[in-house]
Amino acid sequence: MKLKLFTLGLVGCVSLSFADGFEEDVINVKKTQKFNPSALEFKKVKVYPQTSVSLNDKNTKDAQIPELEVGSVTTGKELYVVVKWKDYTHSVQPLFTTNRYGDGISIQFPLSYGKGKTLPYIGMGNEKNLVVVYLKKNVENRDYVKSFISEGFGSLTETSYKDFSLSLDYDKEKKEYTAVLKKAIKPTDLKTGIIPVSFAVWDGDNGNRDGVKNISNWKFLKVEGVNPDKGYISYLSWGYGKIGNPERGRELLIQNGCIGCHNFADQKNAPEGLAPNLSRIGGYNNPVYLKESIVNPSAVVIRNLNINRHYDKSQAPDKNGAYPNNEMYSWYTKDNKGKKTSKMPPYNYLAEQDLNDMVEYLKSLR
Ligand code: HEC
Repeated sequence: MKLKLFTLGLVGCVSLSFADGFEEDVINVKKTQKFNPSALEFKKVKVYPQTSVSLNDKNTKDAQIPELEVGSVTTGKELYVVVKWKDYTHSVQPLFTTNRYGDGISIQFPLSYGKGKTLPYIGMGNEKNLVVVYLKKNVENRDYVKSFISEGFGSLTETSYKDFSLSLDYDKEKKEYTAVLKKAIKPTDLKTGIIPVSFAVWDGDNGNRDGVKNISNWKFLKVEGVNPDKGYISYLSWGYGKIGNPERGRELLIQNGCIGCHNFADQKNAPEGLAPNLSRIGGYNNPVYLKESIVNPSAVVIRNLNINRHYDKSQAPDKNGAYPNNEMYSWYTKDNKGKKTSKMPPYNYLAEQDLNDMVEYLKSLR
């Protein structure tokens, strides 16, 4: 079968060049008249166990899935995203037991994106910046497919989107999964030229479940023939390539007291849970987020679910004998209007090169 391409598209592609290194996170989306798997151009996407959110559940494990392969095409009305990965243990969650977990995938998009919009927090969005999540899990005798709108872990609102499908097939010979997401897309979405997307996968038989999964950073679907807004691209591509000296950055993290709250690499001085563990922070975040986290921590305030693990035994227990949570482990304070402020102080006075060196080091933590 011969594939018809929109000729206009080819011209558009050539004129655009990205900042050093950014190309690595860009996935080209060809325009095709109908879905044709052979038109897919696959790109390798690394995923990492998310260390910043660990749950109470002791049976979970950080099982690392090395990489995914992602390809995407659009017909102008629909967007197709195909994801393939190896998994040597095909696992399906049985209906009536809770000690085995199924493999699964989720694909998320910012609810809104484009010129002037910042990227949502990679862990399923944040309050000011929601995401749409499509989820498929292997559950016995059930077609478990869902879509959610989310503003961060533990805040999922199930939606009733009908304009998508997500399939997940396992090839027993190749030991490989293929997931195909098909979703309706508006011409205005394609006009932005670049669509942020990120991926999470669960390896059920290796201890992944719920929040314990492998995630990617934000990747960017680049629609053929559309030149994205330059300002948006310069925001998204900040910090790619080499921007500083990582060894100096590491020293600066120590000197600036980051290690009083955060653990990472060989730094394990802080009480675990006091702040997110940064051991793999560079694997599942984009450089611009790392910079923003240092300069303006309250721009994105991460919900800490594991606060429930820390009790304050110096207080009186309630009538059921339970002690209140130890507020020291809460990652933010809330004012009477519900506005959250991070407990991390803003480091907005750092010299630009110091900041760049620190981000360069954080990027290397994977
Ligand atoms: C007083 C404790 C404290 C200090 C000191 C501190 N942080 Fe944080 N940091 C936090 C907390 C709590 C959060 C999570 C809440 C939030 O979203 O800001 C956080 C969040 C972060 C994040 C985002 C983590 C994620 O999983 O997305 C990064 C990156 C980070 N800090 C880096 C740093 C660096 C670099 C320094 C030193 C320049 C530093 N922090 C100093 C407490 C601290």
